[in-house]
Amino acid sequence: MTVAEAVGALRRGRLIHLPTETVYGLAADAGNAASVAAVFAAKARPQFNPLIAHVSSTIAAQGIADFDERAKALAAAFWPGPLTLVCPLTDQNMVCDLALAGLNSVAVRVPAHALALEVLEAFGRPVVAPSANRSGRPSPTTVGDALEETGAQVDVSLDGGPCRVGLESTVVAVLPGSAVRILRPGGITRGAIEALMGPLDENSADGHRSPGRLTLHYAPNAPVRLMAQSAKPGEIWLGFGPGTGTMFNLSPSGDVEEAASHLFSMLRAADRLAPSAIAVSPIPDIGLGEAINDRLRRAAGWIG
Ligand code: TXA
Ligand code: MG
Repeated sequence: MTVAEAVGALRRGRLIHLPTETVYGLAADAGNAASVAAVFAAKARPQFNPLIAHVSSTIAAQGIADFDERAKALAAAFWPGPLTLVCPLTDQNMVCDLALAGLNSVAVRVPAHALALEVLEAFGRPVVAPSANRSGRPSPTTVGDALEETGAQVDVSLDGGPCRVGLESTVVAVLPGSAVRILRPGGITRGAIEALMGPLDENSADGHRSPGRLTLHYAPNAPVRLMAQSAKPGEIWLGFGPGTGTMFNLSPSGDVEEAASHLFSMLRAADRLAPSAIAVSPIPDIGLGEAINDRLRRAAGWIG
């Protein structure tokens, strides 16, 4: 299916699968309350959990959100890319109240994927795009996985290939009178943000301030067992690093970026074999490891 068909569907108020560099999104016109309601329904997503408005440029982002110098610096460094900025809302008409879950801030992002940028540019208005999974499930990183999750609810599925990053964007709050805060670790590392902003005060993600962080998330059907050194009978072992005799290794060379790009697709592949549990090797908490471990803890039900 083509970009023109995708844009036509958005204009008619329909839902589409939008490939991005992080994960596949379930996208709709951010200003159309009926379309946004259909996104919440398709995902069975709680309505207190606001959506990210996707736009094609920093200029477009500044049309809906108030960027201070810090936000401008972050956008200049990381957009297009896997960073979402939460800033004060300025234009009430482009993003409907339901998408904002009633907040007076808006989450915005410019994705680094050629097809996504083509769609956003041609559509010319903000597009909400939560990950295209049903609520609580692992995010889709291929068009096949997106179809499996929410295929029945979309008019158009754009195939943009496997997602390069494989984990959602880092959500960063840049609000007046407050220090910059990471609300969700993701595709841009804490280190990269601190290199620009200086040290951030909290050590881990600030789950309480991002409404969507409170529920069990990213979970396959099988239970997930963390910090595994081997698999018990009936389990599938998701390894990391050399010398782990398993058919599923997130990164045989021990590279966290490679592991991030394989995380959701391997959780899904392991889950399809209906194991008694998915046992996951320890992942170092450095670089993208922070976001991987965040997703794994939520998949295992350790948080939420
Ligand atoms: O990489 C991504 O960000 C993907 C792709 C498709 O762009 N999208 C994505 O959307 O992960 P979603 O809806 O699954 O996650 C959005 C996160 C949630 O944790 C939500 O609570 C938070 O962003 N969020 C959205 N608006 C917010 C706001 N105004 N204040 C605080 N958190 C917000
Ligand atoms: Mg999601």
